[in-house]
Amino acid sequence: MVTSMGKHLYRKAKILYTPAMACISSTRNYHMHEPIDLMNEFTICESFATENSPYMVALNKPLTYGEMVGDFLIQHRMLPAGSSMLEVGGGYGSLMQGMLHAYAHIIKKAIMVDLSRTLLLKQKSSLARWKNLLSFIQADALEIIPTLSHIDLIILNEVIADLDTLTDLDQSAPPRQAAKLIKLYDLETPSTGTFNFNIGAIQLVEALCMKNIPAFISEHSCDPIIPGDLKFLEKDLALDSFPREIPLWRHSEYTIRFSHLIKVARKFGKKTLSGPLIDLVGIKRSKALNFIFTSRACSTPDQEIIFELLDHIREYRWLLIY
Ligand SMILES: C[S@@+](CC[C@H](N)C(=O)[O-])C[C@H]1O[C@@H](n2cnc3c(N)ncnc32)[C@H](O)[C@@H]1O
Repeated sequence: MVTSMGKHLYRKAKILYTPAMACISSTRNYHMHEPIDLMNEFTICESFATENSPYMVALNKPLTYGEMVGDFLIQHRMLPAGSSMLEVGGGYGSLMQGMLHAYAHIIKKAIMVDLSRTLLLKQKSSLARWKNLLSFIQADALEIIPTLSHIDLIILNEVIADLDTLTDLDQSAPPRQAAKLIKLYDLETPSTGTFNFNIGAIQLVEALCMKNIPAFISEHSCDPIIPGDLKFLEKDLALDSFPREIPLWRHSEYTIRFSHLIKVARKFGKKTLSGPLIDLVGIKRSKALNFIFTSRACSTPDQEIIFELLDHIREYRWLLIY
């Protein structure tokens, strides 16, 4: 059964105007009411959903994304035996499938929370093999986190860019709700012009920290980290910028300013670790990478795949809060 916290959720138009005239981009209606096709979104998790995915050609070790994240969490002591975990926004269930395939023996329970009923039903079907460990709840991340207890870890993979973003803020006079957070957490803003502000992602980190729940987060960033040996990937990439709109089918996401999330978590006394997703998935290094990327000289289908993946994954970061 899929239980629901969603019935009382008020519906939001995609763009709302607050009294202070800040514009909010929200994906809530889209996720609650539209048929969602993640294949339009090219998520890293879906790119590595199965061991026979064509993208495996770019990796040192052809593991599914869920298994890679499981290995990574164990390496960072975030997934001890007997863990109870919660994944928010699990999409088709591919991350949890890979993780349970490798680590079901050490996981006590897993709760899947999603705004989308359609996606929860897909998760239920793809994870049927582990039904004794799992439960499914239709809810908003920001509403459910304050109600949680006995959860050792929350996973949010490519979800926080979907949370509310305040758009086109005047840096010299941001609206009250942004100004308060900027001052409280000493958040950087651009020196001139307008910018977008990840208010939903910031509120989510506040909620996690207040509940003392460790978290793994990964997302598109506007302040990406490029590994030292792959500096050529910095070409035409903004490395210290503010959230950029990514227009998708019937909704938009915004890249995340990770430095803001880190400042919020640290203000709560939490530890943070962050790095490039390129290293978490283990992109195979070769002399050809620089050539393929810089000159876009792809003479084989494998090189096309590697180019496309590098161009996409270079903007992604992971963040551990604990
Ligand atoms: C871009 S998809 C990512 C899916 C999957 N994690 C992956 O990496 O492929 C975003 C997911 O988050 C869910 N979602 C978006 N906003 C949410 C919210 N406020 N609360 C809970 N789930 C949300 C969507 O329904 C969807 O499952």
